[in-house]
Amino acid sequence: MSKITSREEGGLPTPRPADSDMYAKVISSESNNPPPAGTTDNVKLNGHINGQCNRRCPVLEEEDENPNLGNIQAEIVPGLNKAFEYFLFFRIENVNGFRDTMKAKMIPKISTAMQVFDMLKHKQFPANGVPNNDWDYVGCSVGFSSIGLAKLGLTDYLYDEAFHRGQRRDAKDLGDKGTESKGTFRVDWDAKFLEEIHGVFQITAHNDSKGKAFVSQLKKDFSYSNGIKQVMLISTKFRPMPHTRMEHFGFRDGISKPEIKGYTFDDELPIRFPGSPIADPGCLLMGRKGDLEKSRRPAWAVDGSFLVFRKLKQYVPEFHNFLRQNGTKLYPDLKPDDASHKLGARMFGRWKSGTPVVLSPERDDESISNDDKQVNNFQYPADQSTCPFAAHTQKSYPRNNLPGSNDHLFRRASIPYGAELDASETSTTKNDRGLLFVCYQSSIERGFKYTQQRFTNPNFPSANLQADSPGHDPVMGTAERYMTGLDPHKQSDEFSIPLQFVEARGGEYFFMPSISTLNKITTRS
Ligand code: HEM
Repeated sequence: MSKITSREEGGLPTPRPADSDMYAKVISSESNNPPPAGTTDNVKLNGHINGQCNRRCPVLEEEDENPNLGNIQAEIVPGLNKAFEYFLFFRIENVNGFRDTMKAKMIPKISTAMQVFDMLKHKQFPANGVPNNDWDYVGCSVGFSSIGLAKLGLTDYLYDEAFHRGQRRDAKDLGDKGTESKGTFRVDWDAKFLEEIHGVFQITAHNDSKGKAFVSQLKKDFSYSNGIKQVMLISTKFRPMPHTRMEHFGFRDGISKPEIKGYTFDDELPIRFPGSPIADPGCLLMGRKGDLEKSRRPAWAVDGSFLVFRKLKQYVPEFHNFLRQNGTKLYPDLKPDDASHKLGARMFGRWKSGTPVVLSPERDDESISNDDKQVNNFQYPADQSTCPFAAHTQKSYPRNNLPGSNDHLFRRASIPYGAELDASETSTTKNDRGLLFVCYQSSIERGFKYTQQRFTNPNFPSANLQADSPGHDPVMGTAERYMTGLDPHKQSDEFSIPLQFVEARGGEYFFMPSISTLNKITTRS
C-alpha cells in the first residue's frame, strides 16, 4: 500500500475534498482552543461566539473511562474518508453459513477506529471525495436491522423504539409520502426498501476498482456458505470536481458535526472546524459516558451505535427555479442572480460555499468558508435579521437559541448519489439523484428522528424567540409549507413554499456492533 501524505504530494490536482474529511487538513493546535463563551448580545456585535455548552458535559474535561478504539467500527468514529461507497443491503439466508463467513472472511476486514486513527495521525489517509488510484485501502463496516439482530439471537431491548420498529413502520412519523387505507399506512418508497432487510455492509474506497473487487469477493465468499442474499447494492461516489464537497443543490455539506474528545480529536489531531459542538462519547457509543441509557444497555451493545440510512431524492431544477422565481420578489433591489443566491442562503443558513449567513448576511464570503477556524464558529442571534429560525441549519441544530440543543446530536456521513444534471433537465427532474443520508448516534429517537420531526413542525424553534411559529424547514419540509424570516426587514412575514424539494425513497435503521460482539454473534453455539 503506498503512503500518501497529502493530496498534493499524491500528485493529484488540488480539488477541495468533501468535508466529512475532518482531518484532511490538520490545523495548528492553537485553533483547538475554543473561543470564549459568549451571549446572544455578542453575536449581534460580531457574530463570532461559541458557547461550547453541553448540558451533560459543560466544558468536557473528561476522558471517557476506557476508550477501546480497537473495538469500535471506524465508520462510527472517527469516520472513514472515501471517494466511492457501496452499500450492500442483505438478508441472512443461512445463519450458520453467515456466521462462518463472517468469522473467517469478514470480521478481519472490518475497519476499526484504531486503524483509522493510526492512518490519520501518520497523515496517510487521503481526503474525502477525491479518487486516488494509488490508495489501495478499502474500508468495511457492518450493521444489522432489529430483525437481523434477532436472527443472530440478539433480542434484548435496546431502549429505542424507532430502531425496534424499523424505518418502514416509522415512515409516517418521519413525514414520508404514502397512502392511508383502513388504518394502515403504505409508504411510497422504492420497491427494494419495502423488502425485509437484515443488514448492510458499507464498503468505502478511494480506488473504484479496489472497492468493486472487494464487493465481488464479499459476494463470492458468502455464496459458498449461502450466508446472505443480496437485497440491493447501491454504488455511489462524491460529485465530480469542482463540486466534490457539495450536495446536489450546490451547497457545501459535511461541515458541522459533534466532536468527541479522545475519539475524534486529541492533542495530535485537533478539531478541524472549531465551534463544532463537543459531546460525550455516549452521544454515539452505547454504554459510554453520556449515553442516557447507559445503565440499561445489554453488555453486547457497549461500543455499538445506531446507523440511520435514508435515500433522499432531490428535485434540483425545481429548487433552482424556485430560487430564481422568488429571489427578486423578496429582494427587489438585487440583481436576479444575487437575489436567488441570497434566498438559497437564507433557506439553508449558509451560502453555497459554506459561509454561515450569520457571519456574512449580504454575500458569500470565501475568506470565511476557506478558513476552517471561522466556518463553523458562530452562534445565532435571537431575531431573524441574519438567519431565519427555520433555516435548515438552525432547525437541525439551533445552537444557543435552544437550551438542550446538544441533547440531540448525531454525526452525519452522507454521500450524494445519481448523475449530474443533464441538459434536458432545465425545469423538471428526469433522473434520480440525491443524498444517501447517513448518521450515527446512540439514540435514534433523540437524535435523527427528533431532528427529522422538527422539519415539519412549524413551531420549532420558538422558545424565547421573537416568532411563535417560525415555519417549516424550507429544504426538508413536506409540500405546502411556509417559513418566516426570509425578508430581514419583515421578519414575521410568512413565505409560502408549495413545492417539495427532497423526498424520502427508502431507508432502514441499523445497529453497528463492536468487534467483540461481532466475534460473539458469529461463533456457532
Ligand atoms: C437532501 C437532504 C439534505 C440536504 C441537501 C442537506 C444539506 C445540508 C447542508 C448544506 C448543511 C450545511 C453544512 C454542514 O454543516 O454540513 C446541512 C447541515 C445539517 N443538516 Fe442537512 N441536509 C439534508 C438532510 C438532512 C437530514 C435528513 C438531517 C437530519 C434529520 C439533516 C441534519 C443536518 C444537521 C444536524 C446539520 C448541521 C447543522 C449545524 O450543526 O449547524 N440534514 N445540511
